[in-house]
Amino acid sequence: MTDPVLDCRGVIRRFNEGASMLEVLHGIDLKVQAAERVAIIGASGSGKTTLLQIMGGLDEPDEGEVFVAGKPMHGTDESTKGDLRNRNIGFIYQFHHLLAEFTAEENVAMPLMIRREPKAAAIEQARELLGQVGLGERLHHKPGELSGGERQRAAVARALITRPRLVLADEPTGNLDAGNGGHVLQLMLELNQELKTSLVIVTHDHSIASQMDRILVLEEGTLKTKEL
Ligand SMILES: Nc1ncnc2c1ncn2[C@@H]1O[C@H](COP(=O)(O)OP(=O)(O)OP(=O)(O)O)[C@@H](O)[C@H]1O
Ligand SMILES: [Mg+2]
Repeated sequence: MTDPVLDCRGVIRRFNEGASMLEVLHGIDLKVQAAERVAIIGASGSGKTTLLQIMGGLDEPDEGEVFVAGKPMHGTDESTKGDLRNRNIGFIYQFHHLLAEFTAEENVAMPLMIRREPKAAAIEQARELLGQVGLGERLHHKPGELSGGERQRAAVARALITRPRLVLADEPTGNLDAGNGGHVLQLMLELNQELKTSLVIVTHDHSIASQMDRILVLEEGTLKTKEL
């Protein structure tokens, strides 16, 4: 078997809470294979965002290891992490995190420009993808001039533009109505089919979770498989 796209081994994360210590993740083991789709569910405050950020190298585990495409994400410097992330991961955050001063097409083109692809080619690809998410008429709008659903679709386009091997999505449809939420999920599933992209989706939405290959519950700092 080939390397898993994502391999978390014994991941522990603790936060200082004044004098006491809060251990949010008690030792998470998770392997995600190419094209596999995994839902993570769990109560508010159970550590889902924390885990996703560690997977994506936006936070460091206190103990344990995280490998993305076979390469260590933990314990490396910011530029190595940034490079590994840019080459392999698309991140869809709980809140859209688009850059306010840039247009939709510039926001979506950004991951390609970070890779030093020429701006004209990056913008061209961004326009095409924005068309696919139904924003072909909103290319020059800034995030403040887009609706909530439009912003989230732009954020999805930004996450997918590099055709990543792994998409990490934190409540990608949490702030959307059923129609827009379904549309965003559809886009992610199409990419999963087309490019064999692996998906790890944190969601409270049972209808989304049930469309994944596996549902994991984060509870008391550990991941348990939920029987389908
Ligand atoms: N930087 C931090 N410093 C201290 N405590 C933190 C920090 N980040 C998260 N926590 C704590 O860790 C716990 C898990 O937070 P996290 O954001 O991962 O939860 P979540 O499962 O994503 O919740 P939600 O469903 O509400 O988004 C919470 O109790 C939170 O207060
Ligand atoms: Mg969260």
